[in-house]
Amino acid sequence: MDDLRLRRCPATEMMLLCAVAASLFFCGVLAGETFVYYDWEVSYLTVSPLGVPQTVIAVNGSFPGPLMNITTNWNVVVNVLNSLDEPLLLTWRNSWQDGVLGTNCPIPPGWNWTYEFQAKDQIGSFFYFPSLFLQRTSGGFGGITVNNREVIPVPFGKPDGEFEVFIGDWYIKNHTELRKMLDEGKELGVPDGILINGKGPYRYNTTLVPDNIKYETLNVQPGKVYRIRVHNVGTSTSLNFRVQNHSLLLIETEGTYTTQQNMSDIDIHVGQSYSFLLSANQDASNDYYIVASPRFVNESTDQKWSTVNGVAILKYDGSKGVLSDKLPDGPNDLYYKEYSINQAKSIKMNTSAGAARPNPQGSFKYGTINITKTYIIKSKNNVLINGKKRATLNGISYKPPETPLRQADLFNLSRVYTMDFPSRPMDRKAEKIGASVINETYKGFIEIVLVNNDTGVQNFHLDGYSFFVVGMEYGEWTENSRNSYDKWSAVSRTTTQVFSGAWTAVLVSLDNVGIWNLRSENLDRWYLGQETYLRVSDPDGYNKTEMIMPSNALFCGLLKSKQKDQVHVKSGASYIRIGRVGLIVVLFLVGFIIIA
Ligand SMILES: *[C@@H]1O[C@H](CO)[C@@H](O)[C@H](O)[C@H]1NC(C)=O
Ligand SMILES: *[C@@H]1O[C@H](CO)[C@@H](O)[C@H](O)[C@H]1NC(C)=O
Ligand SMILES: *[C@@H]1O[C@H](CO)[C@@H](O)[C@H](O)[C@H]1NC(C)=O
Ligand SMILES: *[C@@H]1O[C@H](CO)[C@@H](O)[C@H](O)[C@H]1NC(C)=O
Ligand SMILES: *[C@@H]1O[C@H](CO)[C@@H](O)[C@H](O)[C@H]1NC(C)=O
Ligand SMILES: *[C@@H]1O[C@H](CO)[C@@H](O)[C@H](O)[C@H]1NC(C)=O
Ligand SMILES: *[C@@H]1O[C@H](CO)[C@@H](O)[C@H](O)[C@H]1NC(C)=O
Ligand SMILES: *[C@@H]1O[C@H](CO)[C@@H](O)[C@H](O)[C@H]1NC(C)=O
Ligand SMILES: *[C@@H]1O[C@H](CO)[C@@H](O)[C@H](O)[C@H]1NC(C)=O
Ligand SMILES: *[C@@H]1O[C@H](CO)[C@@H](O)[C@H](O)[C@H]1NC(C)=O
Ligand SMILES: *[C@@H]1O[C@H](CO)[C@@H](O)[C@H](O)[C@H]1NC(C)=O
Ligand SMILES: *[C@@H]1O[C@H](CO)[C@@H](O)[C@H](O)[C@H]1NC(C)=O
Repeated sequence: MDDLRLRRCPATEMMLLCAVAASLFFCGVLAGETFVYYDWEVSYLTVSPLGVPQTVIAVNGSFPGPLMNITTNWNVVVNVLNSLDEPLLLTWRNSWQDGVLGTNCPIPPGWNWTYEFQAKDQIGSFFYFPSLFLQRTSGGFGGITVNNREVIPVPFGKPDGEFEVFIGDWYIKNHTELRKMLDEGKELGVPDGILINGKGPYRYNTTLVPDNIKYETLNVQPGKVYRIRVHNVGTSTSLNFRVQNHSLLLIETEGTYTTQQNMSDIDIHVGQSYSFLLSANQDASNDYYIVASPRFVNESTDQKWSTVNGVAILKYDGSKGVLSDKLPDGPNDLYYKEYSINQAKSIKMNTSAGAARPNPQGSFKYGTINITKTYIIKSKNNVLINGKKRATLNGISYKPPETPLRQADLFNLSRVYTMDFPSRPMDRKAEKIGASVINETYKGFIEIVLVNNDTGVQNFHLDGYSFFVVGMEYGEWTENSRNSYDKWSAVSRTTTQVFSGAWTAVLVSLDNVGIWNLRSENLDRWYLGQETYLRVSDPDGYNKTEMIMPSNALFCGLLKSKQKDQVHVKSGASYIRIGRVGLIVVLFLVGFIIIA
């Protein structure tokens, strides 16, 4: 079976530690020719995107962080210095480099850690972010573009330029304050705004938008074609993205070329990435609005929503400014809820295009493979467990142990976590807090049905793999629902939405050894426990199919005595010596969520 699109690193003559990041693969052995080095400091920065000064997380001094622009099979070395006051981890995906608490100890404040991975057999648009405890609500994200190798034809002409666009709901409160609210059992409430590339809205309405807000401008030249990569990096709000009077030609999502379609607007859910071609073919004497507006909100229950819009400007070279103060209308599907799900179902894989390799994307005939196991995973509104407000999956609210699960396995520590994640939702009485993971078999082919009994749209992401999104419907999932699955051209991606009162079914080919995070991308739900891990162990024993633990691995929890001190120069000058990674109470992971 030639599975090009999956994150498996093909066995090379070299020993391979392959891993697939939650979005990117990382192969442990740096086998290719090209190396690229990044030196990034993660630090706080004060900016005022909505007119009020606030602390955000910058990478290398910028917010959003710098673009990692690489090509299939390049080797990437990223040295990350944590200049925050909290532990930090960047999450990339070979399980040793994945940057989530199940696989890595967080980088303590003042320490650095060097990630090394290969973008093996990957292409596409992804983003990285701090993966721990709501840090993404304060920033720390940036783009990852994996370009095709020149030798592989892509299903569209070379664009004249490219833009990265980060959209997301945004709070003026910083991540530590938001964390406190969730710890106290409160809801985060309606966001204060929607940012586009870290900036507030253009002043399209003088009542709604204060003066002196910096807004984003994309500069274009008439007649040219641009590739726009759009990522929803927000907390929990699904956003409708559109460009006034311009259509967006959808070409790719999270590492898969899609069948192409012209869209006047698209719903982009939290954690998702899409890329489009935009032709600058409209009247060039004026400018156009770029809008990201909230979806599925009832403005009459909270007036504040009507003031929350992300607005940037598409500026033609030599133009005279925008024409009107009225934003282009988005869909209104509080009353027409099929719009969004139908749009999602229309996004298909381009089965004949090659991607990272020349073979057509459709040549991995996933629809002919027998399913080895089915998991039905249900999310619902927060519940009280032992007096604490928590979020659950199948009744279990995940609490990360202090020792990374993968290290616990390696050092034969048996009581760190359990392998009893239920394959069906449990009843209320059994709800609990714990570290319960899914134990699966290498080379299995599993079906995961995500069921959303929560009040809002849910979004799920699996590290280390991309999955085929074969079905999505409102109502109950039954075995008969399988008859409606797309068995040929389902899009393969790493993040999927699950509408409220609906289910989404995905198929996963378990070809990547490791312990992989399956989580809610809604940051509040994730923080409150909506995650688990998928454990796929090496059938031949350690150091055969999986990469070995890197020599610079940090240790913590039960293994903290293995950790040596680190001496380094902190930005500025003075040498700082920091002791062992102690009891880390607040864990901070910079999760580079890359998608394969
Ligand atoms: C990081 O910042 C330094 C100094 O400002 C700059 O020279 C370098 O190009 C930046 N790196 C990236 C990847 O943006
Ligand atoms: C990223 O790299 C590609 C290929 O090297 C190049 O064509 C493109 O201009 C780069 N994009 C940016 C934003 O630097
Ligand atoms: C920290 O950075 C220094 C140089 O900047 C590097 O030599 C060292 O290996 C890094 N430490 C780790 C644990 O990655
Ligand atoms: C977040 O905001 C609180 C309250 O304003 C403040 O005490 C805290 O220092 C801030 N945290 C950061 C990291 O800036
Ligand atoms: C600006 O927004 C306010 C409040 O929603 C609205 O009443 C007003 O009509 C808007 N102004 C324009 C010019 O659209
Ligand atoms: C958008 O297109 C419509 C219909 O062609 C036209 O009336 C309107 O002026 C255009 N808007 C802008 C901002 O050019
Ligand atoms: C998209 O729209 C453009 C311009 O109207 C057209 O040339 C192109 O054929 C359309 N593409 C698709 C896939 O519909
Ligand atoms: C929005 O909220 C109002 C007030 O609670 C309610 O009457 C209305 O039915 C809601 N609209 C929708 C579409 O749910
Ligand atoms: C799938 O299962 C069917 C029925 O059990 C069996 O006949 C078929 O050979 C299996 N296909 C593969 C590819 O294993
Ligand atoms: C976990 O799965 C592996 C591979 O299928 C199996 O060998 C092992 O016995 C399982 N462990 C438990 C505790 O279920
Ligand atoms: C959640 O489940 C309950 C019980 O099955 C059902 O009555 C309710 O309609 C569901 N709500 C959603 C949003 O799915
Ligand atoms: C992994 O396997 C290789 C090749 O057999 C061997 O050279 C290396 O020492 C092994 N490493 C570990 C940590 O077991």
